Amino acid sequence: APFDLVVRRARIATASDVFMADIGIRGGRIAQLGHELPSGAREIDAAGRVVTPGGVDAHCHLDQPMAPPLRMADDFDTGTRAAACGGTTTVIPFAAQEKGQSLREAVFDYHRRAEGRAHIDYAFHLIVSDPTPQVLNEELPALIAEGYTSFKIYMTYDDMKLDDGQILDVLEIARRHGAMAMVHAENADCIEWLTKRLEAAGRTAPRFHAHARPMLVEREATHRAISLSQLVDVPILIVHVSGREAVEQIRWARGQGLRVLAETCPQYLFLTAEDLGVDDSYQGARCICSPPPRDKANQEVIWDGLNDGLFTVFSSDHAPFSYDGTEGKKPGGEEVPFRHIPNGLAGIETRMALLYSEGVLEGRITLEKFVELTATNPAKVYGLHPRKGAIAIGSDADLVIWDERECTVRNERLHHAVDHTPYEGMRLKAWPGLTLSRGEVVWDGQAFLGRTGRGRFLECGTPSLLPRSRA
Ligand code: URP
Ligand code: ZN
Ligand code: ZN
Ligand code: ZN
Repeated sequence: APFDLVVRRARIATASDVFMADIGIRGGRIAQLGHELPSGAREIDAAGRVVTPGGVDAHCHLDQPMAPPLRMADDFDTGTRAAACGGTTTVIPFAAQEKGQSLREAVFDYHRRAEGRAHIDYAFHLIVSDPTPQVLNEELPALIAEGYTSFKIYMTYDDMKLDDGQILDVLEIARRHGAMAMVHAENADCIEWLTKRLEAAGRTAPRFHAHARPMLVEREATHRAISLSQLVDVPILIVHVSGREAVEQIRWARGQGLRVLAETCPQYLFLTAEDLGVDDSYQGARCICSPPPRDKANQEVIWDGLNDGLFTVFSSDHAPFSYDGTEGKKPGGEEVPFRHIPNGLAGIETRMALLYSEGVLEGRITLEKFVELTATNPAKVYGLHPRKGAIAIGSDADLVIWDERECTVRNERLHHAVDHTPYEGMRLKAWPGLTLSRGEVVWDGQAFLGRTGRGRFLECGTPSLLPRSRA
């Protein structure tokens, strides 16, 4: 047969168009698009169903070592299995440098965690937590040249945060070597000051996490990150933007012609601070993440930003911590003050369906915008396009065929190793009915069909989507 696989009568959605065609796949790549293509060794009749590029989840945390007893519930096996069943075919988790560790050693360690385990293709962002001269002048430039072209900078968390001078040093390396800098923008000193005051007043229940990280803490740091990037004249991407005040800073920066990209995540569309608790119950620990979810009005601002181009990418920020297990939200089995509850939510499997159902099918964003935010833009921003994030001749045959039917999110049906989902019980109007990774069916709507270790490491190229400096 001329093709290994033909997907027939697909309603193909790209970031720019929706059109009917057959997709001919050979050697794991899209070989032809057209009508009445010749036969494939295998045929799938999409019968007019929507087919999108497989998702590119450009912000997720898998198997990051934590201070004991904490442990991430998902490694590269369970994490990428869940991703595939949720329509994601590429993940970009983090290789995090520990203070005192060489960046090179961190990268080596994460490769060991991923190799032989991942079910779908993966690249790595770096996390620079210790920008020594050795890291800045030797390791980082060498790693950028080897395909690690993006890194995350933290303005908060004691074990990760950089001061403004260190951020400037790291941004200068990004500028010189054409890398993409991602910034976690929250003011660490404000958070610490507020946390101590709350603790002194005995206010340590999960819901006070949100009180310790009010919007102004994010707004100030967002503005500062923008200013630092302007000083160095380098683009940045602000990750996990939670609401109006941070959005306003980014709109202002864009208006000034500054190259500031932004990311948001499902938790800022579907959760509010009330999910951290309306009383002092510990249940709310499940929804602790940073920045915290805000309120309904802020959710609307995030929807507007997705629709009008303020946001470039929509990622999960999957940070997998179980609730009842002793290694997660109840460290050592204890209910602890919010300061000690690990931050982050599970979302790698639900990201695509949540946005498809509540965004596309509820008429809040177009299908093209959905593809742009979940696949095409993340692939472009991080240098994986057009191999990933596109339905085009020569692109990897990473595809999702959508099932538009009612379903309810139930953790027992998800494939991650986390013991809960923040979206339990939510009614959705669609779920991926089939996921193809390089032409192989890894999810058929019922069962996971991947093979452990089939996922390949992707070297990232030069980040695109960055308008040149006017200077
Ligand atoms: O709360 C969060 N987002 N945890 C994950 C780590 C990060 O800052 O992205
Ligand atoms: Zn972050
Ligand atoms: Zn994160
Ligand atoms: Zn379902």
